[in-house]
Amino acid sequence: QYAQKDGFRFFMEKEIYEQSDVVSDCMLERVKDETTSFDEINDSILDGINEIKICACGTSYHAGITSSYLFERLSKIKCNVEIASEFRYKQPLLTKDTLFIVISQSGETADTLEVLKMAKKAGLKTLVICNVDNSSMTRLAHYSILTRAGIEKGVASTKAFSTQTVTLWMLALYFANVKKSISNEVMQKELTALREVPNALKIEDKIHEKTRRLSKRYLHGHGFFFIGRDVFYPLALEGALKLKEISYLHAEGYPAGEMKHGPIALADPELFTIALMPQNLLYDKVKSNVEELSARDSTICSISSLDFELSDDFVKIQETNHYMLEFFEMLVVVQLLSMEISIRLGNDVDMPRNLAKSVTVE
Ligand code: G6P
Repeated sequence: QYAQKDGFRFFMEKEIYEQSDVVSDCMLERVKDETTSFDEINDSILDGINEIKICACGTSYHAGITSSYLFERLSKIKCNVEIASEFRYKQPLLTKDTLFIVISQSGETADTLEVLKMAKKAGLKTLVICNVDNSSMTRLAHYSILTRAGIEKGVASTKAFSTQTVTLWMLALYFANVKKSISNEVMQKELTALREVPNALKIEDKIHEKTRRLSKRYLHGHGFFFIGRDVFYPLALEGALKLKEISYLHAEGYPAGEMKHGPIALADPELFTIALMPQNLLYDKVKSNVEELSARDSTICSISSLDFELSDDFVKIQETNHYMLEFFEMLVVVQLLSMEISIRLGNDVDMPRNLAKSVTVE
């Protein structure tokens, strides 16, 4: 089912379009009336746990940062995230009240596998969020939750990321239910939003067409900044990573509020700012950050459900009532935009130079 391009130009394109369906698979039997649940774990997973540590690489690391906001906000558990190759050599303090989570599409990435071994050896409870059953990591960790994205062939990860993020959001809600850390009302609002994710990932023709037209303008210049706050910061990191991976253009993801501490010095019309401006989360704060960049003549492309008059370009997403739905709508936009830019530059979208799908050596 997943091995053919089915009329799409590239596997990446097919996989971007598959996201709505695979996310539905990922949520199957896991989103219940009152909470979320997983066959793979039970409430005792949180016994004696006071914090969560997440380690991963690449796109999986970005899913990890996204979830750290959700674990703190919803589950009220302290959470921090580190890049596996850094964690591995820092002689980290590992304490047994920590639930150690690794995230990996393949389950084989050498650095992530190594930190999982370290944590297990130190006696920590370990959990892997993985797309490949019977991989090295699922065999090693105490608990595994599968993301059910199906085979991902494009080197630039797309549907692996959306299913990881949804899985981690469901997990944050599961923990919230165990710890009774949010009200029933908030839980219901979250569950309603979760059920809407497959819809948010459906791609309207006009959105794809818009990214195709934008790709004509965003080929040159001296760089891109993707900016956002809160969970839109890791989404900015992911947008920038996609663009680097397949277009070979210089791009950075940055917290919107941090631009004034250095990067704004780069602003001029040849600097492209892709501004993630969710209506449901810190809109005015991001808006004022974008205004500062606009005042310094950066070219602004905003992605939002609200019109923003200072934008040079604008991708309008559907209005929703939850920031995570905006997150998934914007995810599709940044994925399509990098793919269209890459295609226009004549690159091999599925097999970018110098990159491998799975990095099994250090
Ligand atoms: C490689 C891939 C990335 C991926 C990263 C981590 O660099 O090109 O797309 O995000 O490895 O892979 P994992 O399988 O551990 O998620």
